[in-house]
Amino acid sequence: MSAATLAASALARQQAATIVGWCDDLAAVSATPGHLTRVYLSPEHARVNTIVARWMQDAGLTTWQDDAGNLHGSVPGATPDAPVLLIGSHLDTVVDAGRYDGIVGVLMGIATVARLAATGPLPFGIQVIAFSDEEGTRFGKALLGSSAVAGVWDDSWWDLTDDDGVTLRQAFTDFGLDPARVADAAVDPSRLVGYLEAHIEQGPYLEAAGQALGVVTSIASARRFTVEAVGEARHAGGTPYERRHDALLAAAEAALAVERICRASQHVGTVGTMTVEPGAVNVVPGLARFSVDLRGEFDDGRDRVWDEITKAFVLIGERRGVSVEPTEVHRAPAVFCAPRLMDAVRAGIVATGEQQPLELFSRAGHDAMSLGLVTDVAMLFLRNPDGISHHPDEFVSEDDIALGLDALAAAVLHLAAAPSSGAAS
Ligand code: GLV
Ligand code: MN
Ligand code: MN
Repeated sequence: MSAATLAASALARQQAATIVGWCDDLAAVSATPGHLTRVYLSPEHARVNTIVARWMQDAGLTTWQDDAGNLHGSVPGATPDAPVLLIGSHLDTVVDAGRYDGIVGVLMGIATVARLAATGPLPFGIQVIAFSDEEGTRFGKALLGSSAVAGVWDDSWWDLTDDDGVTLRQAFTDFGLDPARVADAAVDPSRLVGYLEAHIEQGPYLEAAGQALGVVTSIASARRFTVEAVGEARHAGGTPYERRHDALLAAAEAALAVERICRASQHVGTVGTMTVEPGAVNVVPGLARFSVDLRGEFDDGRDRVWDEITKAFVLIGERRGVSVEPTEVHRAPAVFCAPRLMDAVRAGIVATGEQQPLELFSRAGHDAMSLGLVTDVAMLFLRNPDGISHHPDEFVSEDDIALGLDALAAAVLHLAAAPSSGAAS
């Protein structure tokens, strides 16, 4: 049956309308008037945690903020020692973001708990998590919030700095968190049923298939780097070409090499930021600093591609007399969704009337990557018309959110019929 003929339940349609309104409300909580930017440990982060905590409480969840700034809301299971199903996504954004990436998944988790309250206690409790940092917008390192919850925090991250030179350690303190307690944010994997995340697709494949919802099979392996190209700043008029060591031109060539090598190997590489010093119209650039974001389906392929890119950087640098030095700021292995939880998501989509749900690999990163290090994970994708995301035009229709709500509730009930433990081996 095509998605166009599917109709969500009346309750899901009502909840979807509320969720769209909530997304609009949260889109107004931004550091930058006129467009949406909300980063980790900012005043806007604190504000959305307060707002969403109230919505969680209204839906019957007990709420708390953990020692890494993640917001949690939970309902108990049928027995005091019942295991816990986590449902989550994130509330932080990229710069000039859309209003649904991450956010809609958190809100769908809350709506699902509210809806399932009518069925009575399940054999597991449900804990909805609004992760505080997925994008890595402020400190370059992505998945900070979910890494704390997964218990895989790395102390080397404390010295990461934002654009103003504020360290992650200082930002924790300024936000009212104690860096010494970050380990307390970790969940106990032995108590978990697993982790489910609903998210907009951020690509065009569901749209192309004419389906509203999809089952994620795995999440791309990723690495991120900052790269410094150091040449020599000199007079723009007086310095002949053969005497120049132009850092910007080396960086530009390096960016083109990233594209050429990634295109040839079915990977995606992006140079998304670049700054130049001294940054004057009449000075040959002496320094260029840029980012590289690299993704692929498998870790070994991704690493081979990075080796090739670094060799190209060395050659470019040698030819131009510019040193081109990368520093890794983020690394996340590919995560494969658990067949047991994928079955539940598939059953949930089938319950909406879609007989053959699309299965697809996520090229975007998600909090499920961190949780996948310690428990079983699965994801439900929602159609994202035109596949545009990380952009203000990002969209998901109210009808598709409603179908997603029916699917998520049915997936949870499917799991409730057979809730085995999901601790990763
Ligand atoms: C997060 O959205 C990412 O994939 O970078
Ligand atoms: Mn994102
Ligand atoms: Mn996201």
